[in-house]
Amino acid sequence: MFEVGSENLFNSVKLGYVIVESDHLERWLTFGKDAIGLHAEYLSEDMLSFRIDRHIRRFLIKKGNAEDFTSLGFQVKDENSLKSILEILKERRIEVRRGSGIDANLRGVESFWEFLGPKGLRIEIFINPILTETPLNMLSKGFVTEQFGMGHFAMVSKQPEKLIEFWKEIFGARISDYIEQKMSGVTLDITFLRMNPRHHSIAIAATRGLRLDPLSTRIQHLNIEMRNLEDMTNAYQRCKELGFEIAHGIGQHPNDLELSFYVITPSGFEFEVGWNPISVSEIDWKQNKYKQISAWGHEPEISTALSRFNEFRRGFFSLFRSEYIPF
Ligand SMILES: [Fe+2]
Repeated sequence: MFEVGSENLFNSVKLGYVIVESDHLERWLTFGKDAIGLHAEYLSEDMLSFRIDRHIRRFLIKKGNAEDFTSLGFQVKDENSLKSILEILKERRIEVRRGSGIDANLRGVESFWEFLGPKGLRIEIFINPILTETPLNMLSKGFVTEQFGMGHFAMVSKQPEKLIEFWKEIFGARISDYIEQKMSGVTLDITFLRMNPRHHSIAIAATRGLRLDPLSTRIQHLNIEMRNLEDMTNAYQRCKELGFEIAHGIGQHPNDLELSFYVITPSGFEFEVGWNPISVSEIDWKQNKYKQISAWGHEPEISTALSRFNEFRRGFFSLFRSEYIPF
């Protein structure tokens, strides 16, 4: 028997893999392999993949013109956790589909389930990843994954309350803390959610007052965590040398204390490379509210005038666009 209930799911779910659709596979290869320092492999002419640990697949970059994330894969602990999640989805009348064997193979998992998630992202759930002992061939020495999952991601939402509830209910996520950040006369409220000891696997940002979404992508940034500080700073240097724009130089966040930088991917969204965030102990964790996104650094290193204009334009038009959130 198993108990249905989100609270039981805490510490049962971690980010497992991501799928991106892009028309710039060659540039993605340079980005992943030569700039960030990941293990790269072409699966076919139209499909590039990256590894960062024993999981045979962590990133799948498929040829296509979305220039965005299309799927997020979440690894769940066991059959009971999977049953709980499927039961919650059934109660919420969310249509769930079993992925095909071919698709499971592509994703490097034994089998998976999928449904339409926030902002049209496919949310995929699996238990067993396919692992490999083939040595990693990468410039970075290693990444922190294991019980923390592959990293974290951030989304902007016009319905943050609903989106936060979604992650809490579906995966038993808990709120770690909050940051408010004033920028260009707008206040941004960011909520950080954890699903396991990683301080946050998900961050949800929303504009205070009039709700806007100035992004053209479903995910604002994806973060992976390096084991060594030097690997992070070397990746920063290589990104610059190879002509990838640095959205924010090296700095530190006040809540998880991670040192990181943000680089723009060939698809246009940001990629955060971090080092040494704190993890959360459930025994004595206290939720805090911070007044700025960075304790120091994270200075913009690109000309922001045009991107600000585009963000303003997209933000304005987002007022008239609906945003799908399940539940
Ligand atoms: Fe982040």
